[in-house]
Amino acid sequence: MSVIAVVNQKGGCAKSTTAVHLAYWLIHKQHKVLLVDADAQRSSSIWVEALEDPIPCKVMQTSDELLEQIPLLANQYDYIVVDGPAGLSDAMKAIVLRADLALVPCQPTGVDLRSAADAIRLIRQAQATRHGLPQSAVFLSRAVKGTRLKDETMVLLNDLGVPILKTVIHQRQAIADTFGQAATVWELLGKAAVESAEEFEQLFAEIMTLLP
Ligand SMILES: Nc1ncnc2c1ncn2[C@@H]1O[C@H](COP(=O)(O)OP(=O)(O)O)[C@@H](O)[C@H]1O
Ligand SMILES: [Mg+2]
Repeated sequence: MSVIAVVNQKGGCAKSTTAVHLAYWLIHKQHKVLLVDADAQRSSSIWVEALEDPIPCKVMQTSDELLEQIPLLANQYDYIVVDGPAGLSDAMKAIVLRADLALVPCQPTGVDLRSAADAIRLIRQAQATRHGLPQSAVFLSRAVKGTRLKDETMVLLNDLGVPILKTVIHQRQAIADTFGQAATVWELLGKAAVESAEEFEQLFAEIMTLLP
């Protein structure tokens, strides 16, 4: 069993989008998966309940709930995917204390890099008390194709000293449409949806290599 948390206190960096797509991808690999929605907006739980094949989901928003419930649920699932909250809250700290892997999506802008650095600091604090856990990795999300900023961000991310995933998830309308369509990119039609699906598959395959 592994707990994979998607965390970054910055709103809009694609935590919920990543968590829902990861949970969906794992389920279609025949794993038993629970999505934990830890964000007050509840967007991922609303989303997965509206899917044609709903993903099992629990809303957990307090640090007590997260700290207590995640270990109790652990034996019932192959993977627990946690969609992290906005803000550097106690809930986010609790998630990092329970995760095996903390994934940090980061948009390629200076402001976003700063917030990713804060998230990584919190992860490091947990690692110091948990013999190196959670493992962590950053990836670039919502990157606009062909912009130089993306390359510059990669250089700056390197300085954070956290593994950076090779896969970049680009900004695409097909991905933005998924929530409103109560779908994932795998159910949408068109070239952009197929390309988005390929990027997610590559990202998730890369993530799986980090887990024991
Ligand atoms: N790769 C992408 N391309 C286009 N839009 C995206 C992409 N990833 C996320 N979005 C959109 O950006 C917004 C914020 O994403 P969301 O996953 O809700 O972020 P968070 O959970 O970190 O606040 C949503 O409207 C979502 O549809
Ligand atoms: Mg969210």
